[in-house]
Amino acid sequence: MKTQICNYLTTQLPETTSEQFLTLMETPPEAFMGDFALPCFSFAKALRKNPKLIAEELAAGLTAQADKLGIEKVEAVNGYCNIFLDRVAYVKQCLTTANGENHGVQQPGVGKTVCMDYSSPNIAKNFHVGHLRTTVIGNSLYKIYEKLGYDVVRINHLGDWGTQFGKLIVAYKKWSSKEEIEEKGIEELMRIYVKFNQEKDKDASLMEEARNWFVKMEQNDEEALSIWNWFKDISLMEFERVYKLLGISFDSYIGESFYREKVPALVEELKEKNLLTESQGANVIDLSAYDMPPCLITKSDGGSIYHSRDIAAVLYRKQTYGFEKCLYVTGLEQSLHFKQVFTAVKLMGNDWAEDALVHVPYGLVSMAGAKLSSRTGNIVYAEDILKEAMERAMAAIQTKNPDLQNKEETAKQVGVGAVIFHDLFNQRIKNVEFNWEDVLSFEGTTGPYVQYTYARAKSILRKAGFGDETEDSMPCDNALADIAAINYKHLADEASYALVKTLSGYEAAVQGAAERYEPSVVARYIISVASAFNKFYHECPILNASEEEKQARLALVDAVQKVLKDACGLLGMECPEEM
Ligand code: ARG
Repeated sequence: MKTQICNYLTTQLPETTSEQFLTLMETPPEAFMGDFALPCFSFAKALRKNPKLIAEELAAGLTAQADKLGIEKVEAVNGYCNIFLDRVAYVKQCLTTANGENHGVQQPGVGKTVCMDYSSPNIAKNFHVGHLRTTVIGNSLYKIYEKLGYDVVRINHLGDWGTQFGKLIVAYKKWSSKEEIEEKGIEELMRIYVKFNQEKDKDASLMEEARNWFVKMEQNDEEALSIWNWFKDISLMEFERVYKLLGISFDSYIGESFYREKVPALVEELKEKNLLTESQGANVIDLSAYDMPPCLITKSDGGSIYHSRDIAAVLYRKQTYGFEKCLYVTGLEQSLHFKQVFTAVKLMGNDWAEDALVHVPYGLVSMAGAKLSSRTGNIVYAEDILKEAMERAMAAIQTKNPDLQNKEETAKQVGVGAVIFHDLFNQRIKNVEFNWEDVLSFEGTTGPYVQYTYARAKSILRKAGFGDETEDSMPCDNALADIAAINYKHLADEASYALVKTLSGYEAAVQGAAERYEPSVVARYIISVASAFNKFYHECPILNASEEEKQARLALVDAVQKVLKDACGLLGMECPEEM
């Protein structure tokens, strides 16, 4: 409707474009000022006219076309054209869209591929809260891009190569056993790694041994690789438990070890392109022209490193997937690393690197004030957080709704959902302070509040006899009237209208989140829908209203629950039907 109005306005003022009006159009701060307001000040100079007069003339023109444009009335106030839409027409259009395909979200991404590198934990190290953030943010971006039609390749770039594995093999042989590692998993691997680092200061030969084992690994020695592979299996089993709790999977687990074998060819190419410099026996790319420290490519012993494996990974992914974009979700502290890698790729003659490679950084998680269970000192395992969240949700269910069916499943959805929502609600770059009271509260901007709102909507529909609907059934499938037969004038009051307007912002929220790589845009949108819904619920009786009113309001409730559930899905959060 806005576009239609803007198209019409171009016929009223010379040398204007629809886009120009679209950018000028404001959303007034108060509902009594209309749905849109057009400030006319910027036209004054060219037209040599008082903005007040321009607003009056435009208002008169719009009024003459009101029916055609779906406008109820237009007021010219102090140089602004305040436009009031025909609420009935608007509500009808919005609800039809919300009920329609993809809930009204267009799919500009069809036919395009985006690679997403996220989670990417390190073998034999614990899956900590930082990895929980990249996992949750990356998964949400995947869902958001998928919603827009993109083909997303979910890549878990495992940290599975490096000198630390030489140390681990020595430590395993000296201080651990197959049984202990099999029983305790990563915790045992971390214990012996810490022990190695303590002992190496007392016994210099330990480092020598570790180096030898790593050399064996690089030379594909059978024993070395089989121990390393076993550490990898043990670690992946633990990571999988976290992914299962979160309901997350990946398309590729190709990690750093895969790319080490591609580094020699990379070195050749860099040499040919005159990009390599020798520095104390190591090979580097000089980036001083870009105000960056040199990018290390091979160590003095010729081995690959994190940077060169990442450069090889960019080239491999471009060739394999033909991505339009490749996103990297990691902590802010890796910013320089990615700047160096992206610059190196570009210097190799790949101009696409500039727009296609994107680092998506996030802030730290602080645990201050929160009592979190931890196994080794103050290292907090993601799995422990998720489990504790589920236990706490279960305790809340036991006191608030002990007769609930599916208690276990609901506690999982609420606990895990609460952690996810808390992680995604603020801009990702902000630091997150973890505090159980905030995470699990039923009030405010929390996962449980959103889930509770959804469950409330579903309960209203059940009570109205709108029971076992399938995912995409229309309201008319059950006790609700056909959406076309609904009298939308019953949704023109302030609370209903405000809710409908909020609902219609879904597409913009999804697009905004994708453009800025920012799931918080969707999380905030969800909160705005939930609070508009709760306001509507308190102001408009539903089940006790007249039949015609009831049908209209139920149709709105139905659209709300569908969009809420869909939007929560974009965060990776489930919504229980009952709470
Ligand atoms: N394994 C790294 C870490 O735990 C993250 C890897 C991110 N991805 C990449 N392609 N470098 O910090």
